[in-house]
Amino acid sequence: MSTVNLVVNGKSVSADVQPRTHLADFLRDTQNLTGTHIGCEHGVCGACTILVDGVPTRSCITFAVACQQAEVTTIEGLDDDEIARELRAAFSAEHGLQCGYCTPGMIVSARDVVLRLDAPSEHDIRVAMSGNLCRCTGYVGITRAIQRVVEARRARGIAAIPNGHRTALGPSGSGHADAVAAGATARAAAPATLAAANKPAAAASAAPRKDANWKPQTNFTQSFTVSHPVDVVWDFFGNIPEVASCLPGASLAGDPVDGHVEGQIKVKVGPISAEFQGVADVARDEASRTGTIDGAGKDKRSNSATRGLIGYAVKPGDNPGQTRVDVNIGFTLTGMLAQFSRSGLVEDVAGRLIGAFVQNLEAKLSHQASGGTGAAPVVTELDAGSLVFSVIISRFKMLWAKITGRRT
Ligand code: FES
Ligand code: FES
Repeated sequence: MSTVNLVVNGKSVSADVQPRTHLADFLRDTQNLTGTHIGCEHGVCGACTILVDGVPTRSCITFAVACQQAEVTTIEGLDDDEIARELRAAFSAEHGLQCGYCTPGMIVSARDVVLRLDAPSEHDIRVAMSGNLCRCTGYVGITRAIQRVVEARRARGIAAIPNGHRTALGPSGSGHADAVAAGATARAAAPATLAAANKPAAAASAAPRKDANWKPQTNFTQSFTVSHPVDVVWDFFGNIPEVASCLPGASLAGDPVDGHVEGQIKVKVGPISAEFQGVADVARDEASRTGTIDGAGKDKRSNSATRGLIGYAVKPGDNPGQTRVDVNIGFTLTGMLAQFSRSGLVEDVAGRLIGAFVQNLEAKLSHQASGGTGAAPVVTELDAGSLVFSVIISRFKMLWAKITGRRT
């Protein structure tokens, strides 16, 4: 046990805690401050956001012992805070909440927006609030509520405080990607395209991706089975545009040249719509029926960059006429969207994206096998925000089943 001394909502607190105890558990379990909600415990949803020394902080990924002597303010500590009071009224007026689970974290982050930004546009507010996810209300009312408070305060002559009395800016997980993003800019557009096959090209725009020192931050493997013969699947994987069309939101900028391809992929993550522009080099080996896709991409609006290396192997499935595909994904995601790159969560989300990919692949191969004309019906868009929540909910269900021994 370690002793931690904090000032919580203006009151000195001293307690013995396990070094692994995170601040949210500490506040809820030892201080009875249950207004701090816990959603994902991955630093993704923002439900647990509180202020540590005036800075919005995810308390689920902050160790209590790491906050020695810090001033902690929870939603309870904002009862009499002027901005929080105005925000509560505005959230009610603009229908900015339904179940209210996300609301304490929303109010803490929104207060920071009102405090710091002078005349934020709707887009500015959405970007600033992108670390707080709401599963039931949507973001229109929330954004309007914040805009309403900002406008009212500026109209009353209350100016923004650009740094909000802070020495560090940005919620945990953001603001660390500038150097990487700058490198990605120099290397031209970037991707997220899951295209397909050929040999690696040495195009100038892809040069930084050839950095021998690059290592993915996260690696994982997934497998899927397709109800079509291995030769058919392998041939299909050689058709880059067709493979790209199986990935919801992906499109190519033109025909592949020597295995080098440019394109984009659109993905919605909570309130943010990201559009990664990117390049990828694809390679495949006929003898081993393996291939790689080496890509990089950048979303200008969120200033997020990604670099990824996907390896796949196509082999006969367990039953005749089936094909098994093993996919290894290694990637690095930086910038605002990096908050979604926690290991495990991304793996689950990728599993759902791969599920949609397989569904489209099956549809196209069946369409092809039946001699159908025209385009096969495919899923063309996925909302990673809803995916994130379905992941969180499925995890809650698993946890509940574990605790109660009941099936969900
Ligand atoms: S519970 Fe902390 S970010 Fe979700
Ligand atoms: S109001 Fe229900 S999660 Fe946001």
